Amino acid sequence: MTYRSLPKVELHLHFEGAAPPEFIRQLAHEKKVDLSKIFNSDGTYAYRDFDHFLEVYEGATSVLKSPEDFARLCTAVAEQSAQHGVVYTELFISPDFCGGSDVSAWREYLAAIKEGADKAEAQHGITIKGVATCIRHFGPEMAKQSALCAAETVGDFLTGFGMGGAEMMHRPSDFAYSFDMAREAGLQLTCHAGEWGGPDMVADTINDLRVERIGHGINAIKDRALVDRIAAAGIVLEVCPGSNVFLNASGDLKDHPIKALRDAGVKVTVSTDDPPFFQTTMTKEYEDLAAAFGWDETDFNALNQTALDAAFCDAATKDKIA
Ligand code: ADE
Ligand code: ZN
Repeated sequence: MTYRSLPKVELHLHFEGAAPPEFIRQLAHEKKVDLSKIFNSDGTYAYRDFDHFLEVYEGATSVLKSPEDFARLCTAVAEQSAQHGVVYTELFISPDFCGGSDVSAWREYLAAIKEGADKAEAQHGITIKGVATCIRHFGPEMAKQSALCAAETVGDFLTGFGMGGAEMMHRPSDFAYSFDMAREAGLQLTCHAGEWGGPDMVADTINDLRVERIGHGINAIKDRALVDRIAAAGIVLEVCPGSNVFLNASGDLKDHPIKALRDAGVKVTVSTDDPPFFQTTMTKEYEDLAAAFGWDETDFNALNQTALDAAFCDAATKDKIA
């Protein structure tokens, strides 16, 4: 059974990480930049482990320079998502990569991306919202700049604030100022935690950053009391099983915590994270989960409803998608 045409809601998609390798190669060619060392001979992205992945990710991102480049990227990413039945997606967009977290530059980048998203909606019927995402290993001061960018541009398109990057650098409390600023501006909040860090990192993220959703969160499974707390609080996990298996953040898919977390009553959702980096798509995620756990269309429809309920958009947008 292919799940390609099943309507899907994706909550966790890094904008730059969704860039098809051929798109990045084309930009590198246009800008006369030699990026050959970040590609394998078969054209896929080449990296050894998570730290190297972050380096290669930043290498690929280095050819995305102008607002126009990001608008083109939005078209390519939306087209790819729509081909896999995605009807709503939240793009994690980093102000650091869009004008170095300078507020007036960021406004221009965001306007160009929104224009790309509007065109994609007209062409493919896919709705896109933006989640401004600071990068943990760039440090708390840069995160404040990103939060300021986000707070200044909150609106119909930019609805959330989050954080990705190297999870084991800094503690969540180091970013509380930024998350407070974003919350006060009216943005909804998510943060990567429990992909590499343990349950303590997930608990500190919930306590110190007061997020509504957690990116990954899979290592919460190691603490039953925490799992029960997450379930009771209705905190939603943006789980990215294919990413976890590919990066060795988890073992084999058959043993992936998504099943035990769901069985324990946690609100889990399914996303691709950085699809071309992990050679995945939303269709493949569903097919692999169906094969590993026997999940079927009823299960996936329920997961998509959970994702739509947890989406960072208004009720009118949710009604349009449902
Ligand atoms: N940025 C892009 N993908 C990421 C991941 N899986 N974890 C943390 N930061 C990321
Ligand atoms: Zn991620």
